[in-house]
Amino acid sequence: MARIFHLSDLHFGAHDERLVEAVEERINAGRPDLVVISGDFTQRARTDQFEEACAFLTRLRDSGHEVLGVPGNHDVPLYDVLRRFLSPLTRYKRYIDETLCPFHEVPGAAVLGINTARSLTFKDGRINEEQMEFIRSTFARVGDVPRILVTHHPLFALPVSDGLEVGKAIGRQDLALDSIGEAGVDILLAGHNHRASTHSARDLATRAGPALVIQAGTATSTRLRDEEQSFNQIDIEGRDVVLTIQTWGGSGFVAGDTQGYRRDGDHWRPIAEAEADVETA
Ligand SMILES: [Fe+2]
Ligand SMILES: [Fe+2]
Repeated sequence: MARIFHLSDLHFGAHDERLVEAVEERINAGRPDLVVISGDFTQRARTDQFEEACAFLTRLRDSGHEVLGVPGNHDVPLYDVLRRFLSPLTRYKRYIDETLCPFHEVPGAAVLGINTARSLTFKDGRINEEQMEFIRSTFARVGDVPRILVTHHPLFALPVSDGLEVGKAIGRQDLALDSIGEAGVDILLAGHNHRASTHSARDLATRAGPALVIQAGTATSTRLRDEEQSFNQIDIEGRDVVLTIQTWGGSGFVAGDTQGYRRDGDHWRPIAEAEADVETA
């Protein structure tokens, strides 16, 4: 089994220290194979904020945890225009990770991160053609394990309630969806919206391949959008994925009900539904 803790939108500089401590406690107790952080490490890409994020990562690594991160739009300077266009991710590379396309293989899963943050389209995300080729070539080398792609920006506009959506689809979504389909991506992890949710990609865009779309809320930011801070515990066993959302309850993170999904051809379905179909067949 592969266990991944999926955190997002830490926003150091606009964070709550109690939540940072509680997240660390949970990570140390849960012993994940990999901690994924899908961007927005800082609030305004300032040096002191990156230093705090770096100290958090150092503590995790010193405790023996593997960490994979990608930048978010808040990790690109907004007001320092020179830096934003000439060296937008210099601080990210210095304090978080030299590589912007980290790849980790853990027992039972292969995980690739791609940078979708851009200086020009500050809030919106993009995947360029070189990155699409990198996604295809990287996953072509892995064995028969779930292939997980991590981005800060979700590839889809996501439904929040009847007829309402949040955010925009990633730039040139059709090309991005084609490349993740060709690369055989099974699971997409992202953040940015500060809302936790799970979808089958096919329900979000007809062109989408068979991917399970998992969004993380903000783990530690004080800026909330209609829901408390949370992060995702993802347990992968063969073609089953069990997701447990850990939500801030005021004095600690509390595990919610588990949600199980099983890959069924080109679709992901709740495990209970898939098993009921087998019984009645
Ligand atoms: Fe964010
Ligand atoms: Fe963001």
